[in-house]
Amino acid sequence: MVKIAFFDAKNYDKEVFNKYNKEYKYDITYFESKLNSETAPLTKGFDVVCIFVNDKADAKTLKILEENGVKILALRCAGFNNVDLEEKGNLKIVRVPQYSPYAVAEHAVGLLLSINRKLYKSYQRTRKYNFSLDGLLGFDIHGKTVGVIGTGRIGKAFINIMKGFGTKIIAYDTYQDEKFREEVGFEYVDLDTLYKESDIISLHCPLLKDTEKMINKESIAKMKKGVIIINCSRGKLINTNDLVQKLSEGKIGGVGLDVYEDEEEFFLRDMSNSYVRDKNLSILLSMPNVFITSHQAFFTKEALNKIASDTLENIKNEMETGTCENEL
Ligand code: NAI
Repeated sequence: MVKIAFFDAKNYDKEVFNKYNKEYKYDITYFESKLNSETAPLTKGFDVVCIFVNDKADAKTLKILEENGVKILALRCAGFNNVDLEEKGNLKIVRVPQYSPYAVAEHAVGLLLSINRKLYKSYQRTRKYNFSLDGLLGFDIHGKTVGVIGTGRIGKAFINIMKGFGTKIIAYDTYQDEKFREEVGFEYVDLDTLYKESDIISLHCPLLKDTEKMINKESIAKMKKGVIIINCSRGKLINTNDLVQKLSEGKIGGVGLDVYEDEEEFFLRDMSNSYVRDKNLSILLSMPNVFITSHQAFFTKEALNKIASDTLENIKNEMETGTCENEL
């Protein structure tokens, strides 16, 4: 029987994977710990290792997996920036390229509305019977210019929603989808123009060498005063030191983050009883115009079902045919 070591397992993962595994009947062992070079020895005797966004498959970890006889590394996510692909050796690596672009795009819009209309503040106030409007002033999103970086599946879903708000969309992507641009009606621009003209900027590109820390003090300096920045992609797209500095100078109007540069130790876990803290994360959480969620943009029923079914199907294809369309 195929043996799967499932890392960073949460209750909701177990529930949905056990449901779909009734069909596949794999032997799944759920580990709460994340995969890294220290936990990699746990994989001895397993055929497949299944990981998520904050597990770390660096060169050292991949070497241990291979030595332990693991054949397949199955990512139950789309992004693969946490895997050192150049060091994969004979390991087959598969991923779930899309589970629900709508889930992530809708969450990005949720962060935007929360930041602009200060919904998180209103919630805290009204619970205390404080019904004052002081400090809650927002602006109409209608008529504003929205800059979208990355017009892939999620960027497209985000653009479609923002079109409904009556915004002007400008976008940057290294690959321009002319057909989609024509259908929807927006403009591709260079990055400098996007930074200069956008009232709202939403990041939907992958984390790559050339996108790492693309939002930094130089790029922020080019943006409008009061710009709102939304990041539902990867934390390392933003230089957090620079973000904190520009927020405290009043250059940025608001920030909505579902991801954070150094999220691995904190996100997707309850750290409320721990004394371990991250300086920049604590500063951001204390700021009145920053709203942070814990890498939850993907987290809908539809996405979880698709993640489980596609991950198990990827494993089946690799085990039975030695190949799979979702192989990296
Ligand atoms: P996708 O592969 O469909 O689209 C990515 C787009 O980015 C492509 O159009 C590509 O040409 C473009 N791109 C590549 N290099 C670029 C560059 N240097 N500058 C600008 N654009 C560039 O990916 P999808 O499904 O839209 O996902 C986007 C990202 O969202 C993923 O890479 C992942 O990091 C993140 N994500 C976050 C989730 C969350 O829960 N917060 C869940 C799923 C994905």
